[in-house]
Amino acid sequence: MKNSILVAATLISAALGQNVSRGAAMMRFACSQLTVERLDPLVNPGVVGSPHTHQIVGGNSFQAEMKPVEYDLVEKSTCTTCTFSEDFSNYWTAALYYRASQNGTYKRVQQFPNLGLNQRGGMTVYYIPPYDGFSNVTAFRPGFRMLAGNPILRNTTGESRGICHRCIYKDSQPFGGAPCTGEDTTFLPNRMCEGGIRTQVTFPTCWDGVNLDSPDHQSHVAYAEIPYEPYFPPMATFPYTPEQQRGKCPEGYPVQLPQIMYEVMFDTTPFNTPELWGEEGTQPFVFSMGDA
Ligand SMILES: *[C@@H]1O[C@H](CO)[C@@H](O)[C@H](O)[C@H]1NC(C)=O
Ligand SMILES: *[C@@H]1O[C@H](CO)[C@@H](O)[C@H](O)[C@H]1NC(C)=O
Ligand SMILES: *[C@@H]1O[C@H](CO)[C@@H](O)[C@H](O)[C@H]1NC(C)=O
Repeated sequence: MKNSILVAATLISAALGQNVSRGAAMMRFACSQLTVERLDPLVNPGVVGSPHTHQIVGGNSFQAEMKPVEYDLVEKSTCTTCTFSEDFSNYWTAALYYRASQNGTYKRVQQFPNLGLNQRGGMTVYYIPPYDGFSNVTAFRPGFRMLAGNPILRNTTGESRGICHRCIYKDSQPFGGAPCTGEDTTFLPNRMCEGGIRTQVTFPTCWDGVNLDSPDHQSHVAYAEIPYEPYFPPMATFPYTPEQQRGKCPEGYPVQLPQIMYEVMFDTTPFNTPELWGEEGTQPFVFSMGDA
């Protein structure tokens, strides 16, 4: 069984948030499907037919090439598939497929709404402030973009930081609980999940404060250091995941950003029959970049 890394990327428009916000509540909102395409303006700008398929939500100006700042998401978009009409950001992840072991054909797994939200396909996006109710975050600058995960890695426990999968039982349970805790796995669940699979992606929260992007789309940002070193007033003992903890930002990344998190609900339930799982009973799902 392979551990899973899935590429998840985000282009953020400047319309959300104020310059500095303090101890605010988290924002959780639904984004319906905008399109499912082989496009990746971040990793393969200008390429029509990127190496793998993505499912994209957000502003309708999404296209193969979107140069930072020059291509102004706010100016070019007229609407968004996300709940907040002011947010023309684009968010995307790899697509998930069912692979039939009998004949090797693929069928895309559909996404379904998260608990309590109204959407068609797509995903849930979170903007999470530091939980200490004290630390400030700085809003994403226009043209900011970043990537979580690594599409080339395959079995990399520990490196797939921020990405994991939850086997959902009936009735969207377990619903609560921080991502990458409990029974969550860094690889796709190796059993049939009655309620589908929830894939969770948490992005880094420390920024170099200068670059809107970097050649690998990752090194201008960093995850906070673990273990948490309190340098602000005491934090509650809530079981935050390491990614959610606002530990000290590593050297060179002095600016704290809101934490972006995705939850992608994959409706794997149409494939929950033993005949569709092949003889060895191994899970039959694979992400578009080839990881499982
Ligand atoms: C993945 O890595 C783990 C830990 O190093 C190892 O135990 C496992 O056999 C590996 N699985 C595959 C499919 O390579
Ligand atoms: C391949 O196998 C799947 C699962 O048994 C089946 O649903 C599908 O129709 C088959 N496709 C072809 C082209 O035979
Ligand atoms: C957060 O910003 C406010 C307003 O600018 C400032 O007074 C406060 O000291 C900042 N807090 C921290 C922890 O830097």
